[in-house]
Amino acid sequence: MQTKYIKDLLQSEPSLHEVVINGWVRSFRSNRFIALNDGSTIKNLQCVVNFENFEETLLKKITTGAAIKVVGNLVESQGKGQNVEIQVSKVEILGEADPEEVKKTILSPKRHSLEFLREQAHLRVRTNTFSAVMRTRSKLSFAVHEYFQKNGFNYMHTPIITGSDAEGAGEMFRVTGLDAKSAPLNEEGNVDYKQDFFEKETNLTVSGQLEAETYAMGLGKVYTFGPTFRAENSNTSRHLAEFWMIEPEVAFCDLDGNMDLAEDFIKYVVNYAIEHCAEDLEFLEQRLLDVEKTKPQAERSEMPLREKLEFIISNNFKRVSYTEAIEILKRSKPNQKKKFKYLINEWGADLQSEHERFLVEKHFKCPVILFDYPADIKSFYMRLNDDGKTVRAMDVLFPGIGEIVGGSQREERYDVLKQKMEDMGIPQDELYWYLDLRKFGTAVHSGFGLGFERLVQFVTGMGNIRDVIPYPRTPGNASF
Ligand code: 4AD
Ligand code: MG
Repeated sequence: MQTKYIKDLLQSEPSLHEVVINGWVRSFRSNRFIALNDGSTIKNLQCVVNFENFEETLLKKITTGAAIKVVGNLVESQGKGQNVEIQVSKVEILGEADPEEVKKTILSPKRHSLEFLREQAHLRVRTNTFSAVMRTRSKLSFAVHEYFQKNGFNYMHTPIITGSDAEGAGEMFRVTGLDAKSAPLNEEGNVDYKQDFFEKETNLTVSGQLEAETYAMGLGKVYTFGPTFRAENSNTSRHLAEFWMIEPEVAFCDLDGNMDLAEDFIKYVVNYAIEHCAEDLEFLEQRLLDVEKTKPQAERSEMPLREKLEFIISNNFKRVSYTEAIEILKRSKPNQKKKFKYLINEWGADLQSEHERFLVEKHFKCPVILFDYPADIKSFYMRLNDDGKTVRAMDVLFPGIGEIVGGSQREERYDVLKQKMEDMGIPQDELYWYLDLRKFGTAVHSGFGLGFERLVQFVTGMGNIRDVIPYPRTPGNASF
């Protein structure tokens, strides 16, 4: 007898053949109705037990959380709520779950806070919310690869351990084989990394961009999709210390092409989720509506989840220069009434998430791509405009999320880049290879990075980034 998955059974016709299914008991009602879930779908399969035919001791072990194997016929359901159900002929207990113990966990059938679920992150994927989020996350990952593969990009694996700081921001985790208590010191009294494993200082990567650039300048179109690490002490609902980033890099492509790519890519993966995660999104939409009922009107989203996703794919992102954005922000109500925490007084100010969200949620009411930022607030590798003060950078800003993408056209002119590195104190001996690209057949090229968890947050409507990755790493927390 072939083992079946609940997702498939729920779509099949009743049949006289017996089937086998494995799963975890969600509930066992009236000594008769088992709600069984096997992770293949958000839906449970109802398995009906004729208790007269079963041992009392066996029935007692069919408890919430237990793993069981069920054999039976798929029949037309007598009850409401499902088309088919299993008429059980045999039950095997695979793994018991003691009801007294279950009571103390998130498996107990009650509403639990997301914070409590996070404490038991090893069990939370057994809940409807997390299984829906994680199935959607998986589909989105696949969509990312599908988009790039269909469009002629090569998937490139950039190193996790690096000797360079791609963003020049210095918020990195050190990688070392030295013992902190007895690390060798050099003549200046500092740790002597020449005696370390790599014989130099190394860190976990903050971005695969610089290495991706080297491959774009040979393969033409590449993308990375891997973990990145940031030691920034940001305890927010949108920051993780370990997150997954998607970074395409394209030779012979300028900033306009880069913006087109980002918009097309995001629309593709969001549409993929709409088409392939229908049941999970339906559940997550209802969950969000329930959560928002408890919030004041002003904080609720204007559209239900799936309508919001449809809106994203069917409308153009608004492209606005930094300079225009500053003018809008200067004149805005929250700025005039001093409601912003950081008031916008002059050109050159770095935008905070309150400003980004004002532009997206209040002013334009659609995704916004801001471009041509002041050179001083952006990274060294971004191409300088002819005005000498702005760079060809772009950020994609999303409702409820803020920045979802950061990218730029790269500085392809050797002299300009070298000067910029000098001015910004970027070590040229360490990045000689990056400068080399500008010496041997340099060309206009561009790319961006999209924070995968922020995308999953947007698509699933989850408010906290800790709830869209299996085991979040944040300041003070690396459990599991
Ligand atoms: O804007 P960022 O720092 O850009 C880069 O790293 C570039 N090197 C990318 C490139 O051009 N190839 O990061 C890119 C995106 C952000 O827009 C955000 O979505 C996400 O990565 N991100 C984070 N996501 C979760 N937690 C964090 N701490 C994040 N920091 C950035
Ligand atoms: Mg950024």
